Amino acid sequence: MTTIAPHGGTLVNRLTEGEEGRTLLERLARLPVITLDPRTTADLELIATGGYSPLTGFMGLADYRGVIHEMRLAGGFAWPMPITLRVGDAADLRGTVALAAPDGARLGVLEVREVYTADKHEEAQLVFGTTDARHPGVAHLYAQGAYLVGGEVRLLRRTAPAFPELALDPVDTRRVFAERGWRTVVGFQTRNPVHRAHEYIQKAALETVDGLLLHPLLGQTKDDDVPASVRVKSYRVLLERYYPRDRVLLAGFPAAMRYAGPREALFHALVRKNYGCTHFIVGRDHAGVGSYYGPYDAQRIFDRFAPGEIGIQPVCFEHTFFCQRCDAMASQKTCPHDAEAHVVLSGTKVREMLRSGALPPPEFSRPEVVEVLAKGLREVLA
Ligand code: ADX
Repeated sequence: MTTIAPHGGTLVNRLTEGEEGRTLLERLARLPVITLDPRTTADLELIATGGYSPLTGFMGLADYRGVIHEMRLAGGFAWPMPITLRVGDAADLRGTVALAAPDGARLGVLEVREVYTADKHEEAQLVFGTTDARHPGVAHLYAQGAYLVGGEVRLLRRTAPAFPELALDPVDTRRVFAERGWRTVVGFQTRNPVHRAHEYIQKAALETVDGLLLHPLLGQTKDDDVPASVRVKSYRVLLERYYPRDRVLLAGFPAAMRYAGPREALFHALVRKNYGCTHFIVGRDHAGVGSYYGPYDAQRIFDRFAPGEIGIQPVCFEHTFFCQRCDAMASQKTCPHDAEAHVVLSGTKVREMLRSGALPPPEFSRPEVVEVLAKGLREVLA
C-alpha cells in the first residue's frame, strides 16, 4: 500500500462528530460567530480532515510571515500558501468563537490565539508575484477584511458536498489505494475538463506508477472557468470510455482555486501527498492565469527545496498537443514538426467556440467530452 507519510508526519484530524460533536454544537449558539465564505469553509474542512496537514488551524503571524517570505511554516516545514481567516471586525474575538457556514449554520470552533494585521500588497506581491487587482487571486485578497484571526479549529458538522460520491477525505483515498494494492499513485489536479493533452500526460505518468488519482478542484473558480457540475459529467463520460476502471480513482478536491501559479503548484502537490499520492503531475503553467507566470515556473519552484522536504515526486511535462504529422499526441521534446501541424487551443478560445456553437476538433478534446461541455454550457447560459 502507499507508504508516503502525510506532510509533517501525521495526518491531522480535527473532526469531532457524533454525540460529542452535537453537544459542542449546542454550546456554540451562545458564542460570538465568524461567518465563513465558501473558500474558508472549504479550508476549514481541509484542515479538519488532514488535507492541509500539518496545519491544525488558521495561521497565526509566525506561520503567516514564514509562509509568505520563506515558503515555510514557523516550525520549518515547506508550505507556500497562506491559509488565513480574514475578518472586517475583530473587536469581540477572543477565546472560543463559533465558525458558521455562509448560510449561518454553525460548523465548528476556533480557539483564537491571535488577531493581527498584515499588508495585503506585500502578500499579493510575494504570493502571486503581482499587486495587480485584475489577477483573480489578488482581487480576492483585496476584498477580504483587514484582520487575520489565527488559532486551532475543530469541525463539528460537515457541510453537504455538492458531489457526495466524490467526497473522499485523505483517510478515504488512502484506504482505497491500500485496498487496490497501489504502492505508487500519481495525483492530477485540474480546474478544467480533461482534454487530450491532460489525458496524454495522465496516461504517460500512469505508465510508470500503480494508480491515478484524478482529483479535480471542485471549490470556487473564476466565473469564466467551466462550472464544476459540467466538468464532473465530462470526467465521468471520459473515464467510462477511455480509462481502465481499476487503475483510476476520481475524487473531488474541495478547495478554492487561488491562481497563484508556482506557489499553488507546490501547495497542490503537498496536499495531494496528504491524500496519499506519491507522485504529482505539473505540466505547463500549472494554476496559472493570464500571463502572470512563465510556462515552467511552476516546475522550477520544486528545485528550491531538498526532495525530502517535499516528499511527493513532481512529474513534469512540457506543453503537449496533437501533432497532425505525427498523428499522435506529442510535445516539443518528442515531435520534430513545425507549429502549423500542432492543434493548440487556449481555454479561452475553447470556451468562445462552445458558446458560439462551434465544436473543438477531436484532436483537441474527445467528442464525448465536447458533447457534455456544449450541452452543459447551453444549460448554464440558458
Ligand atoms: S490548473 O489550474 O488546474 O493547473 P488545468 O486544469 O488546465 O489548470 O491543468 C491541469 C494540469 O495539466 C496542470 O498541471 C497543467 O500544468 C497541465 N496542463 C494543462 N494543459 C497542458 C498542456 N497542453 N500540456 C502540458 N500540460 C498541461
